[in-house]
Amino acid sequence: MPLPVHADQAVPVYGNYHGYYSKRPFIQDPRLALLPAEFFVGKRVLDVGCNEGWVTCEIGQSRGARQVVGVDIDDTLIRAAWKRRRTVWSLQSPECGHLREESCPPPKRQRVLGDAPTTDHSAHNYFPASCEHSYGSLPIPNRGCGAFPHNVTFRTVDWVKDEIPDDPNQYDIVLGFSISKWIHLNNKDEGLKEFFYRVHQCLKMGGIFVLEPQPWDTYSKARRMSETLKENAKYLQLRPDGFGELLQELGFSHGQRLGVTGKGGFRRPVDVYLKQR
Ligand SMILES: C[S@@+](CC[C@H](N)C(=O)[O-])C[C@H]1O[C@@H](n2cnc3c(N)ncnc32)[C@H](O)[C@@H]1O
Repeated sequence: MPLPVHADQAVPVYGNYHGYYSKRPFIQDPRLALLPAEFFVGKRVLDVGCNEGWVTCEIGQSRGARQVVGVDIDDTLIRAAWKRRRTVWSLQSPECGHLREESCPPPKRQRVLGDAPTTDHSAHNYFPASCEHSYGSLPIPNRGCGAFPHNVTFRTVDWVKDEIPDDPNQYDIVLGFSISKWIHLNNKDEGLKEFFYRVHQCLKMGGIFVLEPQPWDTYSKARRMSETLKENAKYLQLRPDGFGELLQELGFSHGQRLGVTGKGGFRRPVDVYLKQR
């Protein structure tokens, strides 16, 4: 069993920032926006290093995924992610038109969190954020038909080292957004290779790994966070520019760069790799 990281751990040496999305806020995640609209429809998705679950919930709510599992090493973040799921559910409102499974018709009213409030006065079950503050989240019905929020779950795990029960069924898509640097600095080259190996193992043939690697020049600030990271950094031979080659050796396609998003220190590329053998 992994040792969960707690909020009182002063230094976020795993990149386990609390309030991450107040520094990197979004209504619709710009990295997901680089992917085709149908990309997640009907898919089983693993979001490694999901933090407070914002991206995970977006994929489950408005991108039509069949199942999304978010994992994070920090137990406090995972509890925040479950809360995020309740909040996103509470704020759902009336408008249809989101991608979802054919077999599971959407609730009559549906809205992506953060969209402009509807002016449709028949939207009587719309529950604004102020109501959640005053009354708490809306209850989630016990019986779901696989649509959001029932298609989203979270688990606390050091995913580089430990398997979760969802892994053996394999995923169609694995996301690794802004996590490779933290895995690299904490587990050195061997740990990063192990991570890529595990992604390959857990993907179905034809499955896709979406990677947002942090550039090498951002490592210098991160390694100053602790003596361990500083020491580990001395031994690193691999560089983010070489990750594509490593992935190809494992059986992935040549990476395709979808684009670069983010501002300032968050400016990072997003690459996709197809498991082809
Ligand atoms: C910088 S945040 C990125 C959050 C999110 N993926 C995004 O880009 O919006 C990195 C996250 O990875 C998590 N993390 C780091 N190492 C991990 C590991 N070995 N297993 C699971 N989660 C990990 C951290 O706790 C943190 O929440």
